[in-house]
Amino acid sequence: MNYDAIILGAGAAGLMCAAKAGQRERRILLIDHADEPGKKILISGGGRCNFTNSGTVPERFLSANPHFAKSALGRYSPQDFIALVDGYGITWHEKTLGQLFCDGSARQIVAMLLEEMPDSVTLNLGEPITDVSHSDGKFAVTVGGVVRHAPSLVIATGGPSIPKMGATSFAYDLARKFGLKIIEPRPALVPLTLGGEDVLFRELSGVAAPTRVRCGKTVFEEASLFTHRGLSGPAILQISSYWRHGEAIGIDFLPGIDASTTMIEAKRARPKATVRSILNDHLPARLAGELAERLSVTGTLADQADRRLIEAAHQLNDWCFKPNGTEGYAKAEVTLGGIDTATLSQRTMEAKSIARLFAIGEAVDVTGWLGGYNFQWAWASAAAAAEAV
Ligand code: FDA
Repeated sequence: MNYDAIILGAGAAGLMCAAKAGQRERRILLIDHADEPGKKILISGGGRCNFTNSGTVPERFLSANPHFAKSALGRYSPQDFIALVDGYGITWHEKTLGQLFCDGSARQIVAMLLEEMPDSVTLNLGEPITDVSHSDGKFAVTVGGVVRHAPSLVIATGGPSIPKMGATSFAYDLARKFGLKIIEPRPALVPLTLGGEDVLFRELSGVAAPTRVRCGKTVFEEASLFTHRGLSGPAILQISSYWRHGEAIGIDFLPGIDASTTMIEAKRARPKATVRSILNDHLPARLAGELAERLSVTGTLADQADRRLIEAAHQLNDWCFKPNGTEGYAKAEVTLGGIDTATLSQRTMEAKSIARLFAIGEAVDVTGWLGGYNFQWAWASAAAAAEAV
């Protein structure tokens, strides 16, 4: 069988690219070492797949070149994916912040993508890729001991997040082999770990609260969760993509509330109240207790000088944590960095230095926020490449 293109990786991007290129009557070989396609889709969104975000804008993606994703995202939008989902009668709902989930199961998304593939797409699952080479304008891929050839090759093997699901750094190794630069990868959308004095916060493991979390100038207002290793929850996962070792993050435990005004007014209105009892009005009791203890403001509000209460209030609105690390690739939802966008065409995702070599999805240095953005990038980059293979 002669193929027009070989796509490596049958995840979100590879499946979409194979379907779209197949619809253009391209003969496609789609290879994955896993024994079933779209494994990350299946576990995503708690099994319901947060398949896109209606608020998709390029500013919600991180990359060494923040403009790179604009072209692909502009040409394949959340509306395009929603139309596809609707066409298959898959019902969905918006959970929060533009995040769209299947009403039923993530399996529907994988089934839909497979259904989208015409007969010109061949799936080769459950066998390792042992060699990839390029000569005389053809790529040769050895899979399961057999060499397959095609004039186009698409790298869609994702990033190394969650290795126990079969994620690997294969895309980076292959890209390097073909002379493409890699922007240093690191775990993202990942829980942060605490050490030193902050270790005591681990006693709050399981407690969550609405927060406003800051790292430098970047701010997310969502829930934070204390864990037995440190901090998690959507606000922390979001900020983790912006955090670098050695930096501090600030957590506002009273988002939207000016804690200074609240404390001073409470002192006048309820002089016998304590900081803890005021915090109890706004926060889970265990968190209120721990924060009050750490603020070391003992006695009633009436016992405190205003200055002392204002100091404590400032801390509540911007509590400084210095994480000592992250929970790493084992827990990271995505990987930041990857194949340098400077080496790719933003229109087609084709390598500038090697004709007909493409890279799409998470393998590329484009990483979305939490909330359906990463699948939207997978669909959009795949659609862009599918027009060119
Ligand atoms: P993806 O990882 O999907 O696919 C890569 C494929 O390549 C896999 O099938 C893998 O088996 C294969 N492969 C890897 N190495 C190989 C090798 N050496 N040889 C052959 N095949 C190889 N995003 C979002 O937008 N909404 C959400 O709800 C979630 N939820 C979520 C939950 C969890 C737990 C995780 C880990 C991640 C998410 N994500 C998400 C992120 C999302 O899953 C991710 O960004 C996309 O799956 C990336 O799509 P790709 O196709 O690029 O890689």
